[in-house]
Amino acid sequence: MKVAVAGGTGLVGGMVVAELRAAGHEPVVLSRSRGVDLRTGAGLAAGVAGCRAVIDVGNVVTVSRKTSVEFFAAASRNLVAAAHRAGVAHLVALSIVGCDRVDFGYYFGKRAQEEVVAGGPVPWTILRATQFFEFPEPLLAKPIALVPRMLSQPVAAADTAAELVRLVEREPVGRAPELGGPERLDMVDVARRLSAAHGRRGLVVPVSPPGRVGAAMRGGALLPRGEHACGSRTFAEHLAAIRAAR
Ligand SMILES: NC(=O)c1ccc[n+]([C@@H]2O[C@H](COP(=O)([O-])OP(=O)(O)OC[C@H]3O[C@@H](n4cnc5c(N)ncnc54)[C@H](OP(=O)(O)O)[C@@H]3O)[C@@H](O)[C@H]2O)c1
Repeated sequence: MKVAVAGGTGLVGGMVVAELRAAGHEPVVLSRSRGVDLRTGAGLAAGVAGCRAVIDVGNVVTVSRKTSVEFFAAASRNLVAAAHRAGVAHLVALSIVGCDRVDFGYYFGKRAQEEVVAGGPVPWTILRATQFFEFPEPLLAKPIALVPRMLSQPVAAADTAAELVRLVEREPVGRAPELGGPERLDMVDVARRLSAAHGRRGLVVPVSPPGRVGAAMRGGALLPRGEHACGSRTFAEHLAAIRAAR
């Protein structure tokens, strides 16, 4: 099956593309580096032409509510409209567990994305996943990494990619069971263990977003609730793979 992957050059997007290929599908990458701009819609019609399904793992890196909402609302509207015109049968979008419980700027964009997808004419599935094991990596690139205090149940990006491909192969279900990893971890601890596995010497400094946002993040508002899907890779396995690759 031909499947367009919005954000197919990104962290989880690259894994989705590889997973699709391994399963015998034909992925089509939609990203600016491939001449497609989700924000403006440029190149989208050609990108989704002939696709049976679309997986949306596009992203904007920001903590600003305005920037996040503008990106995710515009990108999702353009994607849904192009997919509808092309007769796409299934749109699978990746969101974040607890994005509706924590008023962090970026999460308002994820809520906007979910609203557009769920309110649109293309049959849809939304998968909410917890933070990836890789979540603190961009922060660790700096000599002093400011890492938010956050109680998480992180999941391997690779397990998330596999779940997205499993979902796209099935009928649209609306909201899929949330996806988390096998254990609850403190994000600061995750960052420190990642830093050590990479052999880095930089400092990891815990920070707490002010007010209710910080309290919610520390207090477990980003954890999956009730029945949920669970990635199989453990964080220890993820660290061992990093060490082995050094
Ligand atoms: N990180 C986490 O812990 C986590 C957890 C749960 C869910 N998620 C969700 O997973 C999704 C993917 O996150 P990620 O960290 O894998 O993303 P990422 O590495 O930041 O990659 C972003 C992708 O979006 C593309 N993109 C950005 N702006 C674009 C535009 N205007 N037009 C077309 N393509 C554009 C980028 O390609 P170009 O730059 O070439 O355009 C790239 O392929 C996000 O929706 C995020 O909310 C993330």
